[in-house]
Amino acid sequence: MSKLTGIRACVFDAYGTIFDFASAVARCRDIPDDKRGALTTLWRDKQLQYTWLRALQGRYVDFWQVTGDALDFALDSLGIHSPALKTQLMDLYLTLSAFPEVPEVLRSLREAGFVTAILSNGSPAMLESAVSAAGLSSLFDAILSVDAVGTYKTHPSVYQYALDQLGVLAREVSFQSSNAWDAYAASDFGMRVVWCNRYSQREERLPGKPDREIRTLTQLPALLSLAR
Ligand code: 2OP
Repeated sequence: MSKLTGIRACVFDAYGTIFDFASAVARCRDIPDDKRGALTTLWRDKQLQYTWLRALQGRYVDFWQVTGDALDFALDSLGIHSPALKTQLMDLYLTLSAFPEVPEVLRSLREAGFVTAILSNGSPAMLESAVSAAGLSSLFDAILSVDAVGTYKTHPSVYQYALDQLGVLAREVSFQSSNAWDAYAASDFGMRVVWCNRYSQREERLPGKPDREIRTLTQLPALLSLAR
């Protein structure tokens, strides 16, 4: 694959891209094995649905509230009624595992001279906690939360916020997300986009089109060039 040139900043989605949202349920001992997969999927799907619906309605609350509401829905749907278990799962969401290749890829990008940042629906507290727990604090120049904008991805103001905070143009950003809907929206906004398709998702029928597709972030450094 040919390189993306003229890139100054590498901006990353958080959940699913840097952090493994499935690691919360995976690390919780008290979930019946036969419900783990369904709980992870239902929790994530409902979490995202609530962000899209609340953004459309203009009824923003932060991602911690949305993540808790989505977990309530998922646990209720699966007949799991345990406030203690909910607390345990929410605590685990604050210290999600980073995907194994992340630290080395970030180090490599920074050594090459790229600015590195997160742009996420996560609340500032959630993101600071996850980044710190994963030992990644020194590897990001900025941790950007939609909370400053008061709406959710895929609203263009979220991607514009990253440009404003980093002082770069859209074409100077390589945006990485494992979430196809996020990758397409960033492309439609004007960023260069590398879709980290960890979950073998199908192409979306949405505005925009990612510039490159990879399976893990390991392939990313070789795809980017500072030079025009
Ligand atoms: C994000 O981190 C929800 O994965 C999405 O913004």
